Amino acid sequence: MEKVIVRVPATTANLGVGFDTLGCALKLYNTLSFSLSDGLSISGCEPEYRNPDNLAYQGFKAVYERLGLDVPGVHVDISADIPVSRGLGSSAAMIAAGAMAARALGGFELSSGELLSIVTPIEGHPDNLAPAFFGGLTASMTESGRVYTLSYDIHPELRFVLMSPDFPLSTHAARSVLPDSVPFKTAVGQLSRLALLPKALEQGDEELIALCLKDALHQPYRFPLIHESDKLRQLAHELGCDAFCISGAGPTLLCLTRDGSLAGKLSEAARSLERRWDIRELAVDRQGARCI
Ligand code: HSE
Repeated sequence: MEKVIVRVPATTANLGVGFDTLGCALKLYNTLSFSLSDGLSISGCEPEYRNPDNLAYQGFKAVYERLGLDVPGVHVDISADIPVSRGLGSSAAMIAAGAMAARALGGFELSSGELLSIVTPIEGHPDNLAPAFFGGLTASMTESGRVYTLSYDIHPELRFVLMSPDFPLSTHAARSVLPDSVPFKTAVGQLSRLALLPKALEQGDEELIALCLKDALHQPYRFPLIHESDKLRQLAHELGCDAFCISGAGPTLLCLTRDGSLAGKLSEAARSLERRWDIRELAVDRQGARCI
């Protein structure tokens, strides 16, 4: 095989209390083609990403290196719908695409779980990468260099309403404000909520989901970095939705609801805000990364 096209979904990580653990794939995609060639060349992205640091190439390279093989020359063409630095897993989508392409072009007999374990060190945590590979709501855990995953069902009527502002927030900046430790009581509160959340999502129980999203590990430190997040939370509350959290490291915010009119109503209400907020409902992607 000389060429492969890979499509990878966006992902919303954490879901409030599942910091670095839970993530869900969404129907918004990056599509990348990889063609074997002489040397490395990259098109379809800003010039600053056309070099060996490109995450799609990093994912591609990691697979060959893990197998102890020379990395072949490749031309990568990127068509990206997932916005960068918005908390929607654009980095994970690039890395997963590279790994999928390496497996296809090299003809390697590696499972997607093995690819996930190989490339997780590039991002440092698997919560976006796991659902990017497997689709749906996926929990992940790393032990001795191997990533273990389990997927959960989500109630079919549950809707993901994403609110993305017109400013970026780097994951590095959003992680730099986090504390080194938390009180024991805080940790216990967090794990009790995390234990209940997957079943609440499966049952589509909005009231319980709202309670389970009350994270104490990262959101209290990150909301202040996201201008007007307090106002959007209030608008969502006035429209009947309290299941509100940050998508990944932000700045995108997420509402979980069974109300199919919430995205439209929030868009209307958000016009009064200072920043421009792109508000849309995204369906759950249940397939994950695919060669097409
Ligand atoms: N779990 C990560 C975080 C997701 O919240 O920092 C962003 O990569």
